[in-house]
Amino acid sequence: MQNSVAQQYQTSANLDARIAVHARFSTNPYPWMRWVFDHLTLPPVCRVLELGAGTASLWATNQDRIPAGWDITLSDASPGMLAQARAALSAVAHPFAFEVVDAQAIPYADGAFDAVIANHMLYHVPDLPRVLAEMRRVLKPDGLLMTSTVGARAMAEMWALVEPFRPGLWERVRVLTANFNLENGVAQLAVYFKGIERFDYADGLIVTEVEPLLAYILSAQTLQKQPLSQAERLALQSEIAARITAEGAIHITKVAGLFVARNSIT
Ligand SMILES: C[S@@+](CC[C@H](N)C(=O)[O-])C[C@H]1O[C@@H](n2cnc3c(N)ncnc32)[C@H](O)[C@@H]1O
Repeated sequence: MQNSVAQQYQTSANLDARIAVHARFSTNPYPWMRWVFDHLTLPPVCRVLELGAGTASLWATNQDRIPAGWDITLSDASPGMLAQARAALSAVAHPFAFEVVDAQAIPYADGAFDAVIANHMLYHVPDLPRVLAEMRRVLKPDGLLMTSTVGARAMAEMWALVEPFRPGLWERVRVLTANFNLENGVAQLAVYFKGIERFDYADGLIVTEVEPLLAYILSAQTLQKQPLSQAERLALQSEIAARITAEGAIHITKVAGLFVARNSIT
């Protein structure tokens, strides 16, 4: 992993701050991870590999419907994240294997898996073609790839709040996910996979509390490189509070979705 990405995901604290906002203030009552799981159409007995599994919320959220015959390996390049994933699933009856894996060099045999999952992580990898080739290699012929990501305008209204303090920040945040987003994902996947389908998750945020949104903003990789001073942080906090008082809430555009595809090697 690049240093900035490794630092961002050393522990789950930054990811937790963002998941908390999505969990509390999303307008779509059907949870994101339930919706993601709905797209995993797999046989009752199969092998599944997740790359960049983070805190394993896909599996914790869907623990009531994991088929007994699924042999699931959860992996992440961050040992800290993997420890959180293990803890999050400690009370789940289904067994899981946990492995530290850099998606750029997947340590499994060709054709080992019926499905590979890579949610909200492909935009982090330095060498995306290498990861796509690796995912295809470890998939069985016709195996399933599922990968979620964001759209280019995701969270625009939130980043606009920070713009007065860090001009150009919104553009720098956009660049962080620009190498694999909903708009350009099909073209990149098409080199390695067939039958690519895109699914969009209809959602938004209506945020009515200051502190969770402030924590989300402060968790950003770009802001951790150029942290806000105490005075700037207080000014941002006041601005968020004033907007919520004046308008009742801050409305934020969420743009997220996923691609499902099949191994093009038959
Ligand atoms: C935004 S989080 C997504 C976590 C989880 N998939 C989810 O959707 O909640 C990105 C994850 O990708 C991991 N990651 C980043 N670069 C990676 C790489 N090259 N190989 C494997 N995992 C990586 C990070 O450690 C982090 O856990």
